Amino acid sequence: MYLSKNSTLLFAFIMVMSFNFNSFSQKQIQNINGRKTLSLNGTWQFIIDPYKMGYLDYRQKPFDESASGKGGFYDNITNPGKTKRAEYNFDFEPSLTVPGDLNSQYEKLEFYEGVLWYRRNFKVSLKEDKRYFIHFGAVNYESHIYLNGKKLGVNKGGFTPFQFEVGDKLVEGDNFLVVMVDNTRKKDEVPTINTDWWNYGGITRDVNLVETPESFINDYKIQLATNDASKIKGYIELEGSVGEESVVLQIPELKINQSYTPDANGKVSFEIPVKKIQLWNPESPKLYEVKISFSQDAVNDKIGFRTIATEGKNILLNGESIFMKGIAMHDENPLIGGRLRSEGDMRMMLNWAKELGCNYVRLAHYTHNETMLRLADEMGLLVWSEVPVYWTISWENKETYKNAENQLSVSIERDKNRASIIIWSVGNETPVTEARNVFMGNLVDKVRSLDDTRLVAAALEVEFDGYTVTVDDTLGEKLDLASFNQYGGWYWSEPKELPKFSFDIKFNKPVVITEFGGGALAGFHADDDTMWSEEYQELIYINQLKMMDKIDGLRGITPWILVDFKSPRRQNPVYQNFWNRKGLISNTGVKKKAYFILQEYYRNKSVK
Ligand code: GCU
Repeated sequence: MYLSKNSTLLFAFIMVMSFNFNSFSQKQIQNINGRKTLSLNGTWQFIIDPYKMGYLDYRQKPFDESASGKGGFYDNITNPGKTKRAEYNFDFEPSLTVPGDLNSQYEKLEFYEGVLWYRRNFKVSLKEDKRYFIHFGAVNYESHIYLNGKKLGVNKGGFTPFQFEVGDKLVEGDNFLVVMVDNTRKKDEVPTINTDWWNYGGITRDVNLVETPESFINDYKIQLATNDASKIKGYIELEGSVGEESVVLQIPELKINQSYTPDANGKVSFEIPVKKIQLWNPESPKLYEVKISFSQDAVNDKIGFRTIATEGKNILLNGESIFMKGIAMHDENPLIGGRLRSEGDMRMMLNWAKELGCNYVRLAHYTHNETMLRLADEMGLLVWSEVPVYWTISWENKETYKNAENQLSVSIERDKNRASIIIWSVGNETPVTEARNVFMGNLVDKVRSLDDTRLVAAALEVEFDGYTVTVDDTLGEKLDLASFNQYGGWYWSEPKELPKFSFDIKFNKPVVITEFGGGALAGFHADDDTMWSEEYQELIYINQLKMMDKIDGLRGITPWILVDFKSPRRQNPVYQNFWNRKGLISNTGVKKKAYFILQEYYRNKSVK
């Protein structure tokens, strides 16, 4: 076909405009499991690289910043078999299972903190009119990703998903994916170097190759309007060029079948009046089938609808005051001492919480697996979701703030359709300074700009003088809850002194105690004056629960913690052996005496 000069220019202009017209910045694909995926889970070869020699030359300069972008060991890793002096060769290396942290799969890796390279070979049959993305559920902590020897990019943050579009780097048939992971803790990262949990490194969550049409449904938010059960409010965002065709939103059980015309940016916003809707709550966690479609793509989801708000010292779920019977937990399977890896072990954790009598869980101290939130939706558990702004973060460092804000934003974007999440927490036990108040205050503002349908909180700092606990952390003025950790009977005083405690809480807000408890070695029995015995922990719970019941405005508790968990800070060779023993259940699944005290308390506690 011949184009005259003018029409060529016009064609070029239209192409540029149409590209600018419909192309827009890409957020992460919402609901990965609802897409067409090739799972890249399974067996990955790995190379331990403590001196990072696969990435740095002998002058400590990154190979991929050198002129040629190649050289030495780097080629062996990113382009195996392409260089003669192969000092690395994945083919002769052992393997790690993905998903799964690297520390719990080999004894020699238990304490490993450093660089480790993964390689996964996979076959793919490419289709012309499709787009392809590599999606990681999470990799702790810093990861550099290479596909067929070409660098895709870098991600920082050990608990949130990330993706790269890879259509231009995939080849028909055999492909290989290489991931350099570095789980070294660093002062200016998020979290910083000191945490009371194991620094599990590696590809800890699912990896998928996602196939989408050229234009597809990239993101959507479908929830009730803020504290208003009379309308569903949200948006749908398309990726690619879609022109004028309509997008359909269906919620069959609600007889919703609406068509919308996307705007120039492929976005649709809507407010749909609803009359008879069954609201989601822990007793009846109703989820609706939702379908979004247009000519080229369709995606299904299961979404619950509920409202959450505060009124004075009450937390209102669907307009009714609720008491949150909670428990805290880490993302760790105590029976293996490693990150939770599948629906099976996540369901185990949440079943333990349900069996305890909980309607609420604190998923500490970082964003948990998306599957955990989908299970909480299904099983009826309210959720406190949190980012690892924990203890002594580098408050003055701009990069640190950007990192924290990114982890928070990605977490909210990923989970915004999960009815179970009612609280976004911006951090835990952070020392009060002006710089910290600015840092965390900005995070609070960020949450509210992204999602005004949920509560915003943090585990605030407290002061105590003798038996008086004062809660007056200025950050609390920006938050919806007066939420804090308190360790009467363990770090502060003996269990028998707990009845003397009182609380001076300076906020007219609902009070949620986000941690209390104490340690016990399961099976160690003695009198209730002997630390580490089950009886000592049991007395903490008996007296804590009595004492907290006197706190005006107490509307929720998440005792610390459901199960014993690994921590490099817990060395006592008799009682701990690198396990934090505050669990109500041991790392062998044994319920300690305190478990039954809390279970009985919840059985008799009204949720009103
Ligand atoms: C702190 C902290 C927890 C920690 C707990 C403990 O409150 O928030 O992450 O594990 O105390 O000392 O066991």
